[in-house]
Amino acid sequence: MCGIIGYVGDREIVPILVEGLRKLEYRGYDSAGICVLDSGVLKAVKKEGKISELEKEESLRWISGKAGIAHTRWATHGKPDEINAHPHFDCENKIAIVHNGIIENYQALKKILIKEGHTIKSETDSEIIAHLIEKFYEGDLEEAVTKALELIEGAYGLAVLSSKEEKIIAAKKGSPLVIGIGDDEMFVASDVSPILGYTNKIIYLSDGEIAIIAKDRYLIKNLDGKKIDKEVHEIEGSIKEIEKGNFKHFMIKEIFEQPDVIESTIRGRIKGNRIKLNLDIDPKKIKRIILIACGTSWHSALIGKYIIEKYAGIPCEVDYASEFRYRNPLINEDDLVIAISQSGETADTIAALKEAKGKGAKALGIVNVVGSTISREVDSGIYLHAGPETGVASTKAFTSQVIALLMFSLFIRQEKGEEVDKVIFEEMGKLPGKIRKVLESSKKIREIAIMFKDKNNFLYFGRGINFPVALEGALKLKEISYIHAEGYPAAEMKHGPIALIDKNMPVVFLATKSPLSSKTLSNMEEVYARGGKIISIANEPTPEIQKFSEEMITVPETIEELSPIINVISLQLLAYHIADLKGLDVDKPRNLAKSVTVE
Ligand code: F6R
Repeated sequence: MCGIIGYVGDREIVPILVEGLRKLEYRGYDSAGICVLDSGVLKAVKKEGKISELEKEESLRWISGKAGIAHTRWATHGKPDEINAHPHFDCENKIAIVHNGIIENYQALKKILIKEGHTIKSETDSEIIAHLIEKFYEGDLEEAVTKALELIEGAYGLAVLSSKEEKIIAAKKGSPLVIGIGDDEMFVASDVSPILGYTNKIIYLSDGEIAIIAKDRYLIKNLDGKKIDKEVHEIEGSIKEIEKGNFKHFMIKEIFEQPDVIESTIRGRIKGNRIKLNLDIDPKKIKRIILIACGTSWHSALIGKYIIEKYAGIPCEVDYASEFRYRNPLINEDDLVIAISQSGETADTIAALKEAKGKGAKALGIVNVVGSTISREVDSGIYLHAGPETGVASTKAFTSQVIALLMFSLFIRQEKGEEVDKVIFEEMGKLPGKIRKVLESSKKIREIAIMFKDKNNFLYFGRGINFPVALEGALKLKEISYIHAEGYPAAEMKHGPIALIDKNMPVVFLATKSPLSSKTLSNMEEVYARGGKIISIANEPTPEIQKFSEEMITVPETIEELSPIINVISLQLLAYHIADLKGLDVDKPRNLAKSVTVE
């Protein structure tokens, strides 16, 4: 996720672009830049850091013009610095582009362009687009953009400016882009928030569409050059509401983003039945894998252990980063330590990583925030590409961590020369659709939340790969609703927690199909016999599950390794609805911070 704003018109342009970036800052904020066509020259200012850093730039005050583009970045390729910040330029500084999305074949295109004499300055995939347009430019920007897009594989929301024409060409595929229609002025942006102060007339571009916007006209075409008549929407609503879309809180917005996030984490990393990851490791030299993390990320690590041992065939340990750092762990040079973190800034995880590296282990990161401390400390890693997570309770980072761990395990298996069952790839492809199905249950889950919101305690039981999901479900509930909740492996119940069960105890059971289904059913029966109120997460209402359950949430069936992703979403929704019904500040629960940068 990054933010784009472009403007063509007579107003003072720099304040419009900078103010626009401020409104888009929630989409990414590690670097920013603007470019304005000023007396036939493309003048740009780029800055690492937040928009406030860009605003401090003295040179901005000397720029004026009638067409400009700007971008706030959430890095995906290349660290967040001035060179990698957008806009990017061709060799001659005659074409400027801002881009959201990922160009999957940029390495191949980069090689060709370098051979043809182009000098590529940044580490980004996006810069390639400016050079491709340069390659095809023969006096008609629209034609050059169209030809460039024909070669690009991947996703883009794109705005292009040339030093020769007072207009912007915008194009969309897989990354949102809207056009704002004013009186003698036009806007393009990645969402309506920076536009609404000026006009409420909006066109939503669809995939495969190109918009040509000048001060007093616009034209929308498809990639074959055919003109398209688009509906002009009249928008009402405040900016804050728009950042959250139609959602009441960031947490629920982020829960609903998960189908797209999973696609984004996978994008460009699976080709046919092969995994493509740039990892600086030799799988044959790894004798042990140690996963270190905190909180929700630690839960995804627990799931990772099951998957790594099954597919990579390497013994795997999981440790709380806060414990690992102080227990003087025995580490060898053939150990691989993987730090898992959404923020990449968690103090305990950073310290544990340093401890492992200091003892000679190879280090990888599975991190969301590009350029964060952990991403810089590791030898290589996998970025989640989940976009900024704003709600304090982690949701989309968790599910994308699980899919990243699965891709990592399959990659190791493949590199060791072992076969990967193609069913796994098929199921990964179906995952976004199946998550959407779970999200459709949100209303039903809210009804269940109404029934249970006043309980003081909850138990969550799961087995095998869904035991960590029970822990995560309990954590989600306690951190945002302040209801005491505990997760257990279902079979552990008889060793103590069963004493807690009576008619006042809600017990959430992860009862989707697995090799341990019959054992889970026996555990359910034990709870049922003691009057516990069971909420089951299951694939289908079998007579036994129906008999034992007070309430049931049905979710689509998938392979066991992906079931935690499907199952956890119903638990995220349950926690969210309970906390919301209790009138709590869901996005900022008491005593918690989004990034725990202290010990
Ligand atoms: C829970 C939650 C925390 C974080 C933990 C680690 O919803 O968000 O438990 O998972 O503080 O944070 P990261 O993943 O940023 O290292």
